[in-house]
Amino acid sequence: MGFALDKIVPWGRSFQEYCEMFTLTEEDLKRSILGCGDGPASFNATLTRQGGNVVSLDPIYAFSATQIKSRVDETYATVLAQLEKNKGDFVWNKITSVAELGEIRMAAMKLFLADYETGKQQNRYIFGELPSLPFADKQFDLALSSHFLFLYSEHLSCDFHLQALQEILRVAREVRVFPLLTLDTKLSSHLQSVLDFFKQNTFQVEIKPVDYEFQRGANQMLIIKHI
Ligand SMILES: C[S@@+](CC[C@H](N)C(=O)[O-])C[C@H]1O[C@@H](n2cnc3c(N)ncnc32)[C@H](O)[C@@H]1O
Repeated sequence: MGFALDKIVPWGRSFQEYCEMFTLTEEDLKRSILGCGDGPASFNATLTRQGGNVVSLDPIYAFSATQIKSRVDETYATVLAQLEKNKGDFVWNKITSVAELGEIRMAAMKLFLADYETGKQQNRYIFGELPSLPFADKQFDLALSSHFLFLYSEHLSCDFHLQALQEILRVAREVRVFPLLTLDTKLSSHLQSVLDFFKQNTFQVEIKPVDYEFQRGANQMLIIKHI
């Protein structure tokens, strides 16, 4: 499998955060959605409970709920300490403190963990790793990538980004990616190449402001659609 649990730090966002990051409308939430790199986010759990149609893909889904929970418990305090140290990189208006952030993230991960084993049986949590996806062409209306593409641009090459996005657009009619910044809050150096590539290849490409900013300056999403 090549993906070691002791190397990862599970950290999941809430349904509300996904709606804000991707400006998801009531109509969007009725579409068939793929979450790429959803990890322990609660988007799938909450949307499923609301009657939505969503599949999440992540390499951590190779592990059981018990294994993921113990990794969350092991790493939680370290993540909060890191956030406290880098507080200046974040905007503390909606979420007002590191402690409150910890509670929001932990609540999201608990919702995920409570839903995970059932969701796996229902094929809503699928093990997989970009740049390859185990899905049929155009299986989904909309794919979402939260805090994976662009964020890790220092570790994942421009080629990886181009391959991953082409693969996502093989299985989905549209992809939205947030944020466009790297971990050190700089605009990803891969963004321009991605924009150029997809504009030349008969896709509709757009960068849109969103009503969500936690990492300072991260308030735009990329949308790429088949024309
Ligand atoms: C920072 S977390 C974001 C989790 C979630 N999307 C959110 O916003 O709360 C990044 C996620 O990307 C996943 N990931 C790592 N490598 C991946 C790959 N090659 N393909 C898809 N997901 C990957 C990690 O396991 C992790 O769950």
